[in-house]
Amino acid sequence: MKTPAFHLGATPVYGNLVLAPMDGYSDLPFRSVCRELGSAISYTEFIHAADVLQRPEHIRSRWRYLPWEQPVVFQIYGSTPQTLLEAALRLQAYGPAAIDINMGCPDRRIVRRGAGAGLLATPVKVARIIRLLSRRLEVPVTAKIRLGLHEGCRNYRLIARIVEENGGALLAVHGRTQAQGYRGQADWDAIAEVVQAVRIPVLANGDVRTVADIERILAHTGAAGVMIGRGAIRNPWIFARRAREAVPPEEVWRVLRRHLQRSLDFYGPRGLVLFRKYAAQYLAPHLEDRAARRALLTAPTPADFLAQAARLLGLPLAAQNVVE
Ligand SMILES: Cc1cc2nc3c(=O)[nH]c(=O)nc-3n(C[C@H](O)[C@H](O)[C@H](O)COP(=O)(O)O)c2cc1C
Repeated sequence: MKTPAFHLGATPVYGNLVLAPMDGYSDLPFRSVCRELGSAISYTEFIHAADVLQRPEHIRSRWRYLPWEQPVVFQIYGSTPQTLLEAALRLQAYGPAAIDINMGCPDRRIVRRGAGAGLLATPVKVARIIRLLSRRLEVPVTAKIRLGLHEGCRNYRLIARIVEENGGALLAVHGRTQAQGYRGQADWDAIAEVVQAVRIPVLANGDVRTVADIERILAHTGAAGVMIGRGAIRNPWIFARRAREAVPPEEVWRVLRRHLQRSLDFYGPRGLVLFRKYAAQYLAPHLEDRAARRALLTAPTPADFLAQAARLLGLPLAAQNVVE
């Protein structure tokens, strides 16, 4: 029997590496590829709570998932306890393993409305949100936080304790303040302090780019798991604890083709265009030549695209089967 790395409420989680929620990236096709490679939980891109209530037909794709992606966590953002609760109650019907509240988005338009990292400015509201949702939902409630709004207001210990005391089941901590955006270095010492301050599982997040970083952040923070964002876009094999350079071209090809197929299945013909940004990462080591890059990224059909990709990977024609 495998032993779980930690629990998400009552749900055992097998594995301690988790793909981070990323708007524009952690959609069903990419999430499911990462899950197959070893990501232990599928967090969705953030979902605007007000949209769930007012225009669900426009954003339904954000909470679709494949059954075997479970445990799936739906991440929502909003600023009022009532809107978050109503959205969460509706989304709960789609069977997530947990609902996560985004308390980390640094976008000024979102923060100004008191959502995302803006919630860190109102600890009392954080308490109300977590208490209300954990009482009313049947699934666990989790939160993803930053260290605070800015250097002068790093209230992560307080927020973490509030999340735990009001029923939160797990915390993901990105070791930067809102003001830092994605600049500077993530503060792993602060994440270690959160691990000390709470008993619920903590996922350490920020600046994990290599397999060595995984072991370093785990040793440094004592966290239950590691959440990986940009490093996974560059190298989804990081979830199998493999360096990108160690992945042979045949394997890159197989994963790339499967990801493209899922993108086409999920988005229709638009799936090719949406796949380009991932393809540029899968094939980054082979894209130094600008003409080759342009040829790949402007390929008009999936078959053309795959032919270019196979050529770049140096694979024989036989491997260039068109999308299954
Ligand atoms: C393009 C992009 C989109 C993101 N979207 C979200 C989001 O929807 N929800 C969220 O909680 N964090 C979001 N983040 C933050 C990441 O989850 C993560 O906290 C951050 O990138 C730091 O981790 P990393 O150094 O491993 O990338 C986003 C980050 C990036 C780069």
